[in-house]
Parts: sequence; structure tokens; C-alpha cells
Amino acid sequence: MHSIWTRANAVFAFTLSVLAAMTFAAFLTTAFNDNIAPVVIKSSNAQVKNVPNYSANRAKNDLASLNFDIQVDVSPVFNWNVKQLFLYLVAEYSTPLNPLNQVVLWDKIILRGDSPVVDVSSANPKYYFWDDGNGLLGNDNVTLVLRWNVIPNAGYLPLVQASGSHTVRFPSNYITGKF
Ligand SMILES: *[C@@H]1O[C@H](CO)[C@@H](O)[C@H](O)[C@H]1NC(C)=O
Ligand SMILES: *[C@@H]1O[C@H](CO)[C@@H](O)[C@H](O)[C@H]1NC(C)=O
Repeated sequence: MHSIWTRANAVFAFTLSVLAAMTFAAFLTTAFNDNIAPVVIKSSNAQVKNVPNYSANRAKNDLASLNFDIQVDVSPVFNWNVKQLFLYLVAEYSTPLNPLNQVVLWDKIILRGDSPVVDVSSANPKYYFWDDGNGLLGNDNVTLVLRWNVIPNAGYLPLVQASGSHTVRFPSNYITGKF
């Protein structure tokens, strides 16, 4: 005759094993997804100013402005093991100072249940697009790419880059005044 405590213990142990097995299944069934989706990025109005930065000597650096469009449908990335996505737009370019510069211009969190379609039109960077020197003036190969962190219920955090990119050409003259 089992006492109620023996039964409760058996039920608890069973529940725990089922949960562990499901967590592992959530990880296993999604661990090999590539999590990639295509993106279309466009831009316009690329401009560069040369303005004093925050350093004590107020050295002048390049500060850029542009408008961009982002169109992506991340529904192929969502599955039962995806809690949310953290999307961010990165500008990558090389300069005489650094072989690779990466500047985050914009980001967005998409929760499960949110619309998986991102359609951003003529947006401004959310964050300042500073170069640490004068590497933006006349730079004709600034590449915009969209990346995302997949935040799962169980398992590791994949970091992927959407397929598709866009090249921005900055003019070779500074503008004065406001962007
Ligand atoms: C300011 O500009 C100088 C020269 O371009 C650069 O070396 C320095 O890192 C910049 N400082 C900041 C805080 O951006
Ligand atoms: C532009 O930059 C990308 C990487 O940021 C590089 O792969 C590509 O070869 C460059 N293109 C030119 C024409 O320099």
C-alpha cells in the first residue's frame, strides 16, 4: 500500500523527467536550424559632418547621417523554442585606422506573438554613427547588414546574419549645419 507521500514523490519525479525530456527535445529539434531569413536594406541621404567629439581636446571626427529602409519577415526563424529575437543593423567598413569598424545603428526586439514582419521606411539611426577618425568622408564601401540573436527557451543563443546587405557611399564633402 503506497502512502500519499510515496505517490506524490513518484508524480513529482515523473513530472520532472518529462520536463527535462521536453526541454532537451526543444533544444534538439531546433539546434540545427540556420535561423536565417532574407532582408532587403536600402538607404538614401548619406551625409557626413566633421564635428568635435567628446574627448577633452575636442578632436574632430566624422559623424554620419543617413535614412534607411529595412524589410524582413522573421517568421521562418520563429519555432516552439524561440522566445524572442534581438535584431540589430550594423554598418561595417574599413578605414586606414582600423581594418574593420562595426557600428550599431538601430535595433529592435521581436517577442513571440509580435508581428514577425519588419518594414522600416526612411528611418534615422537610433544611435550616433561616429567614426573614431575621418574614415567616413568619401568612404564608398560602408556595408549595412542585419543580424539577430535568437533567444531560445532552452539551448544556446544563435547569432545569425540575414542574407542580403546594402552598400552605402558617403560623399567626399562635409556638410555644415544640421543633418
Ligand atoms: C576623438 O577623436 C580623436 C582623434 O580622431 C580620437 O583619437 C579619439 O579616440 C576620439 N575620442 C572620442 C571620445 O571619441
Ligand atoms: C567592401 O567591403 C566588404 C566588407 O565590408 C568587402 O567584402 C568587399 O570586398 C568590399 N568591396 C570593395 C569593392 O572594396
